[in-house]
Amino acid sequence: MSDIKNYRTDYGKQELNHKDLPENPIQLFNAWLQEAIDTIDKDANAFILSTVDTNAFPSTRVLLLKEVSDEGFVFFTNYNSNKGNEMEVNPKVGLNFFWPSLERQVRVQGVVKKVSDVVSDSYFQSRPYKSQIGAWASEQSSRLDSRASLEERFHHFSKKHPQEVPRPQHWGGYIVKPKNIEFWQGRASRLHDRFTFTLHQGKWKVDRLFP
Ligand SMILES: Cc1cc2nc3c(=O)[nH]c(=O)nc-3n(C[C@H](O)[C@H](O)[C@H](O)COP(=O)(O)O)c2cc1C
Repeated sequence: MSDIKNYRTDYGKQELNHKDLPENPIQLFNAWLQEAIDTIDKDANAFILSTVDTNAFPSTRVLLLKEVSDEGFVFFTNYNSNKGNEMEVNPKVGLNFFWPSLERQVRVQGVVKKVSDVVSDSYFQSRPYKSQIGAWASEQSSRLDSRASLEERFHHFSKKHPQEVPRPQHWGGYIVKPKNIEFWQGRASRLHDRFTFTLHQGKWKVDRLFP
């Protein structure tokens, strides 16, 4: 194994200055996401979702962001998955976007709720056929005895729905309504720029934090 103690990166490609911050952090998030999509070859919309179980143990996993607006951050998954069960009990979640080549991180804390059936249906119908069948085939996070069983289920549901695939009731979207959003831009000598936006009575307040 390589010597990770001496594996490090110097940052300093860009700055984030107080005077350049918009009043609405979603505007800055959109600009950063667009730059990521334009410059990163794959999964620029990936983020880590943190949830907490009933023993206060956190879990994290990578998901794909499918929409962002003033209403919040939208992703899609299986409602019966581990994360689905955890969010049912505790809808407080954390999101983390990390774009290493841009030397940027965005952290979000918020409260999640399911999107409407209409929104889930519309997104499900826009997915490729095989992804739609995959949503039927996967009892996400449940124990699976073999790869063959998964492929049999895929085959079974593709026979059952050869063309039009209805959305499974256990599959759909969530929207995270943010209560704070933090932007981190890497700088030289570990003197990074770090700003946190907090929602106070419907208005965003911004503070610079020590890095
Ligand atoms: C790049 C990437 C993108 C992913 N996107 C999604 C997604 O959008 N929705 C989803 O349910 N799982 C997605 N996954 C799989 C999740 O990370 C996770 O394994 C799965 O949702 C089960 O998590 P859970 O058992 O904690 O519920 C993705 C994984 C990777 C690596």
